[in-house]
Amino acid sequence: MHLQDFKLERFLAQYEFSAPHLLCTSDCESVHLADLLAMEEGAEGRFKDLWLGYTESAGGPEVRREVAGMYSAVGPDEVIVTAGAEESIFLCMHAMLGPGDHVVVQSPAYQSLHEVARSIGCRVSHWTLCDEDGWRPDIEALKDHVTRETEAVVINTPHNPTGCHMTREEFQAVRDIAEDAGAWVFSDEVYRLLEYDPASRLPPMADIYEKGVSVGVMSKAFGLAGLRIGWTATRDAELRRRVAALKDYTTICCSAPSEFLTALALRHADEIVDRNLGIIRSNLALLDAFFERHADRFAWVRPTAGAIGFPRLLTGESVEAFAVRTVQESGVLLLPSTAYEYGDSHFRVGFARTDLPAALQAFEAYLDGRTA
Ligand SMILES: Cc1ncc(COP(=O)(O)O)c(C=O)c1O
Repeated sequence: MHLQDFKLERFLAQYEFSAPHLLCTSDCESVHLADLLAMEEGAEGRFKDLWLGYTESAGGPEVRREVAGMYSAVGPDEVIVTAGAEESIFLCMHAMLGPGDHVVVQSPAYQSLHEVARSIGCRVSHWTLCDEDGWRPDIEALKDHVTRETEAVVINTPHNPTGCHMTREEFQAVRDIAEDAGAWVFSDEVYRLLEYDPASRLPPMADIYEKGVSVGVMSKAFGLAGLRIGWTATRDAELRRRVAALKDYTTICCSAPSEFLTALALRHADEIVDRNLGIIRSNLALLDAFFERHADRFAWVRPTAGAIGFPRLLTGESVEAFAVRTVQESGVLLLPSTAYEYGDSHFRVGFARTDLPAALQAFEAYLDGRTA
């Protein structure tokens, strides 16, 4: 197994903790520990009394019960709690796939969704989205990619980086195409709950398909990335057994304080997610107006869910050079599409932080100054 550098993480690592204006983050605004504990009477006392031994490898019963509460066909014993979604992706890919297996991955994608499979020796086909199609997934093209030899179809909806969200029909079609081929659907659902129209929320893939694997996390919709808690939900007992066996070699179990805080946050999920959607809605209105003012320079396909979008730079210059210059000269961090191996003309913007208005103002001042 040889993993290539994670381009997105390496790019962000250079600037993420020094640039004053992060205009490309994918997680929602976080909170202080005290704010989370204050959501429930007695939580602070219970937190201080917490036993700091190992937790159960698959996650403690309380946290698994709360996670399972977000599914209708998945029970607490069908959830494995992991160190972020990242560990879930790594373990599931290793549990599902072997050298030579064929995997179809929706692209552009968060790199681990294809790189882990590639490093195992899989044959990876990219099911690519285009902004000319408004980032809509082309179901006919997926049918061409998936054959009886396909082991897994890997999707991510709401999508990083485009902010496109599959319709119910598209999601069901992915499921049906995979079922016809006898393939897994590995469904990265880390931006679930951040649908702008609540009616567009999809059922988790693990609920609607026995060979479906749903991955969730506390980092995005809940804004609790520092907990480093994610999970895998699947009804397939053998896959869970293999994931659990691999976990003995990565983290064994998750952090007890993080599991406690995750269960607490999930009991208050609606309140937390409503607040974060409020931030997203007001920031999106600012971005819409910004992109309208700069329509000669950027093409903007408005996201329909999640915390990020993927505009195109129309000036013809390298977006990577543009992003590096922008952060160095103005302190505004954008993420170029080269980090996704998706050409050199798009960049990711993130809009679920409360400082977006200031970041956008700094970006616009920089653009105006440069063209003045
Ligand atoms: C689509 C997707 N999957 C997985 C992850 C990993 O999540 P975490 O960092 O919380 O493990 C991310 C993080 O950006 C992501 O965007």
